[in-house]
Amino acid sequence: MNTSTFIAISTMKPCCRMLGSCRNSLIFGFQFPKCNHTILNNLSKSQCQLRHNRVICGCSDRVLGFRRAIGASRNGFCGSGSDWGETRGFRGGCVVDRGGGRGALGVVSVVSDVRHHSTSVEGHLNEKGIERIYVQGGLNVKPLVIEKVERGGDVGNEKVEEEEPKVGVNGANVNVHKSRSFNEENILTREREVSETEKEAWDLLRSAIVDYCGNPVGTVAASDPADKLPLNYDQVFIRDFVPSALAFLFNGEGEIVKNFLLHSLQLQSWEKTVDCHSPGQGLMPASFKVRTMPLEGRNGEFEDVLDPDFGESAIGRVAPVDSGLWWIILLRAYGRITGDYTLQERVDVQTGIRLILKLCLTDGFDMFPTLLVTDGSCMIDRRMGIHGHPLEIQALFYSALRSSREMLTVNDATKTLVAAINNRLSALSFHIREYYWVDMKKINEIYRYKTEEYSTDAINKFNIYPDQIPYWLVDWIPETGGYLIGNLQPAHMDFRFFTLGNLWSIISSLGTPKQNDSILHLMEDKWDDLVANMPLKICYPALEYEEWRIITGSDPKNTPWSYHNGGSWPTLLWQFTLACIKMRRPELATKAVALAEKRLSVDRWPEYYDTRHGRFIGKQSRLFQTWTVAGFLTSKMLLEKPEMASMLFWEEDFELLENCVCSLDKSNRKKCSRLAARSQLVG
Ligand code: GLC
Repeated sequence: MNTSTFIAISTMKPCCRMLGSCRNSLIFGFQFPKCNHTILNNLSKSQCQLRHNRVICGCSDRVLGFRRAIGASRNGFCGSGSDWGETRGFRGGCVVDRGGGRGALGVVSVVSDVRHHSTSVEGHLNEKGIERIYVQGGLNVKPLVIEKVERGGDVGNEKVEEEEPKVGVNGANVNVHKSRSFNEENILTREREVSETEKEAWDLLRSAIVDYCGNPVGTVAASDPADKLPLNYDQVFIRDFVPSALAFLFNGEGEIVKNFLLHSLQLQSWEKTVDCHSPGQGLMPASFKVRTMPLEGRNGEFEDVLDPDFGESAIGRVAPVDSGLWWIILLRAYGRITGDYTLQERVDVQTGIRLILKLCLTDGFDMFPTLLVTDGSCMIDRRMGIHGHPLEIQALFYSALRSSREMLTVNDATKTLVAAINNRLSALSFHIREYYWVDMKKINEIYRYKTEEYSTDAINKFNIYPDQIPYWLVDWIPETGGYLIGNLQPAHMDFRFFTLGNLWSIISSLGTPKQNDSILHLMEDKWDDLVANMPLKICYPALEYEEWRIITGSDPKNTPWSYHNGGSWPTLLWQFTLACIKMRRPELATKAVALAEKRLSVDRWPEYYDTRHGRFIGKQSRLFQTWTVAGFLTSKMLLEKPEMASMLFWEEDFELLENCVCSLDKSNRKKCSRLAARSQLVG
């Protein structure tokens, strides 16, 4: 990428524009753009015009200048990569005068479900200082609502009127004095010593920021200047952005997170297809890229365009099931940390939550309350034998359900959904606590299981054959401590230890308090296997030999003890830190962070490490991986202010335990298994 490129046209009054695309006829096979002219006709002619299959809306009828300045501290995405010109269709874009800096904030959002919400949107967004423009977004009648907030500074804190001075610490722009409302306390009220590694990390994090229409909207996955083939690592991944978002939020910088949440929401509603098949409407992309494209018919002018990937380009074409879950989790965190709850109350945001939930809660053929997904639908986005009901997805699902329950506005239209969430939360936690949990005692029970039991009273409900207990586990399972297994299917327990799923079970209280405690106990006990030289193993143990050949399909990237197959991922550190603080074991996290701090900067912030004890930088590891950097910073900040962790985790919800909708009580012939098991699990 040529970082010195300047495409200077002119600098005019700050203004934000939006290109809402109709479907491109060539790409989508339609002769004419399918646009709802009613909405357009209702718009002032000076606001919107239909041109070349696209609706162009501006807040001024003046021709806007556009200055493209790509500084060293910004990833410009100015289309200099190999895919320049290969646009798969405009999904949304804008023309912005970047010369105006951050003074004008252009936020684009989508109200996806016009049939249900078009009228209420009108009232909701009719606020001072907000310019509303509706455009038609293609086949699925989706009006875009453009808000132009006419004030500078950070969003999310209405009290802050002027941009507070940022205190540079040896080049690192850390807001050490910045005071932000945080549960009536200030986040960073005192000067603190920032280590050299932290300073470097802040610089790297800031240089990973991606702008869209002159505003920060996310961070690239990796920004290794020496990487000649970045694949999609130059995109903003939804899951990767979460630790970046937390670092920014803890540092009092809410704007980028708010923009990210709104822009990724905008992408949720775009049409997406893989070989003419469209996945569900609520699907969030795995990642998006900001492309800068020449503006048709406007010589020398450019527009920024958001281009999402829903798995149609991703290696293996995997659907990112976790994206929507992470989005909901982050939305809650944004509200809790900034105190700005107006974002989650917006109608378009509420609709976004509902669409994601609709997709997750839709009835299917399932007999289990867990989400049924394909292999590679989460952080492990390649074939690793985690299709079915992987723990990672279930723990994020549970966290997203708990987040949604807090955020959804309860009214006549949502009360059924809220009831469905409560039922699912209750069924899901029971299922995981009862059937995914293993410790010494449980493994011994499985070892003595009878099989082929045909009855509703079966002990071995999933017909697990004792021979499935792997050799490694017999010796590995400690006398005390336990964990949640990776996956459960009929006649199949995946006994591998998956770190992210176990950590999020602790964080969200998907596990019982005792189980959560035991998981950390096991992690401490198995430190050499799960932490060793670099926190933390993504899963343990690795698949080897025939298993590797059959389960990964001989994947050369997922060789034993590498990448997803037993590699060590520093980004897991912030989640470990959060879990440790929640369980009052911060000393474990401190030890792990110290290990990481010794190596990350020297090793140039790798994506992952290889070998059984995490000694080598990963074979194909990206360097300057943003979520490694951000995960480290977030961990440091959490350890420094452990009280901030409570903004992110959940305690046990005792009401959920009382909730059982199966309508089987003690007098029935069939017994409610939940009632029977509950007493053993709580406590
Ligand atoms: C790899 C990881 C995935 C991550 C992406 C970007 O594909 O498996 O979890 O989101 O890289 O960093």
